Amino acid sequence: MHFKEYLANLPAYKPAKLIAQPTQSITKFSSNENALGPSPKALAAIQAALPNIHRYPDSAVLSLRQKLADHADLSPEAVICSNGSDEMILLLCYAFLREGDEAVMTEGTFISYFLRTLATGGKAIRLPLHDFTHNLAAMVAAITPRTRLLFICNPNNPTGTMNTAAEMQEVLAKVPSDVLIVIDEAYKEFVSHPAYPDLLPEVRKGRQNLVLMRTFAKIHGLAGLRLGYAYGHPTVIDYLNRARPVFNVNSLAQVAGIAALEDEEHVARSRAHTEASRTFFMRELANLGLQPIPSQTNFLAFEVGDDAAVTDGLFAKGFTITPLSGWGLPGYIRISFGTMAQNEQFMLALESVLATVGQK
Ligand SMILES: Cc1ncc(COP(=O)(O)O)c(C=O)c1O
Repeated sequence: MHFKEYLANLPAYKPAKLIAQPTQSITKFSSNENALGPSPKALAAIQAALPNIHRYPDSAVLSLRQKLADHADLSPEAVICSNGSDEMILLLCYAFLREGDEAVMTEGTFISYFLRTLATGGKAIRLPLHDFTHNLAAMVAAITPRTRLLFICNPNNPTGTMNTAAEMQEVLAKVPSDVLIVIDEAYKEFVSHPAYPDLLPEVRKGRQNLVLMRTFAKIHGLAGLRLGYAYGHPTVIDYLNRARPVFNVNSLAQVAGIAALEDEEHVARSRAHTEASRTFFMRELANLGLQPIPSQTNFLAFEVGDDAAVTDGLFAKGFTITPLSGWGLPGYIRISFGTMAQNEQFMLALESVLATVGQK
C-alpha cells in the first residue's frame, strides 16, 4: 500500500491515561469543559428530538445556521457548522493547504492547528509565544508567498492570554489578502477584558480573508455532542462547504445548539461562575506562592516545577489536569475550573502534592 508519508509520520492519537473519561472518583480539570454542565434547555431539546433519531439530519443545518446568523447580524450564507470546531480546523487545512503550503501558528497553543496542517500535507511554521501571548507581529512577519493560513487562538489555550483589538487591527491591516486569517474564539464568551476584539463587524463589512471559529463545547457545555461553527465571507463559507461531509452535524446537536443559544440564563450563570472561579484561583494560588498567568478563560496555567510529577500526584488525589511539557511550556500545568466545592478540594490536593513534589 502507498501510505501518505506526512500522514503516516504523524504521532498516533493515544488517549492518555490521565485525560481518559473520568470515573466517578476522578474529577476532570483537564479539558476546559463547563463545570456547571450542559444548558438545561439544550437537554430538553435533545429529549424532544430523540424519537426522530431514525431520520438523517438536515445536511444544510438551516435552522441552526439561521439562529447563529441572527445572533451575529449576518446572513446564513456567512455561517458554517461542523462536528466540533476541531473538525473546522481540519476542513480549513483540507480546503486551503496544498502539499508544502504553509500555515503560520504559535508554539504553546491548541495542538490541532499543527496536527491538521501536517495531516493535510502542509508545513507548520510555529513561532514562540511572547510573554505567554501570541506574538502577532512576528507571526505576520513569518508570512511567505507559500503561506495560506494564519491561526490565532484568542484567548489562547493553554495560557488563557488574549490579544487586543488594536493588535488585531494591525494584523488585519498587514496580512496579504490571499492569506486566510483564522481566529479561534473557542473561549470568547468567558472574556471580561474590555480590549478583547469584536471582529464580526469585519465579516459584516465583507472582508474575505477572515474566519471566526466558535464552539458549543465550552460555555454552552455541549462538548460531547460535537458542535462547532464559523463566521466568514459567503464565498469562503461556500468553498468550505464543498469540503464538508454532508451529515457532519448530527440532528441532536442541531436542536441542542439552537436551544443553547436561547438559554441566556445558562450562559450568564456559566460566565459568572467562571469569573468567580478565576478570582478564587488567582487568590488561592498566589497564597501558595504560585504565579498563575492572568487568564481570560475557564482555565489557568502556572509553573509548578516538575509538571509530570505534579500531574501524577494530583491524579492519585482524584484530579486530572494537563501537564504542559508537551505544549512547549515545560514545568507548567493547566487546570480547568470545577464547581466551587471541587475548586476548594483541588486547592487542598494541590497544596499537599506540592509539599512532596515539584517546587513551590
Ligand atoms: C482553542 C480551542 N479550539 C478548539 C477546540 C475544540 O473544540 P471542539 O470541542 O468544538 O472541537 C478546543 C478544545 O479544547 C480549544 O481549546
